[in-house]
Amino acid sequence: MARLVVTRRDGLPTVIEAAGGRSVMELIRDHGIDELLAMCGGCCSCATCHVYVDPAFADRLPPMTGEEDDLLDSAASRDANSRLSCQLAFTDALDGLRVTIAQEE
Ligand code: FES
Repeated sequence: MARLVVTRRDGLPTVIEAAGGRSVMELIRDHGIDELLAMCGGCCSCATCHVYVDPAFADRLPPMTGEEDDLLDSAASRDANSRLSCQLAFTDALDGLRVTIAQEE
């Protein structure tokens, strides 16, 4: 089991204990944090699963695809730490990963 720390829009953290094998989006959604809409269900076509990732973990994340990059360009709130959480496979190597849910657009 590994820990994922999610900061919600109200600034409060939620700690999720999870095994690997699922996406960060799925873990957030399935723990009842419904402000992450994830409207396309994880097929990289909506950008409503936008999160900011703690830069300390940047080099442990899967590389961003062109598709994810293009979709994030549609988000006005994009910054250097932006990722689509459906594109981040959660693994034990990411134990302690911190993400912050982006503002709704
Ligand atoms: S859930 Fe739609 S892009 Fe991630």
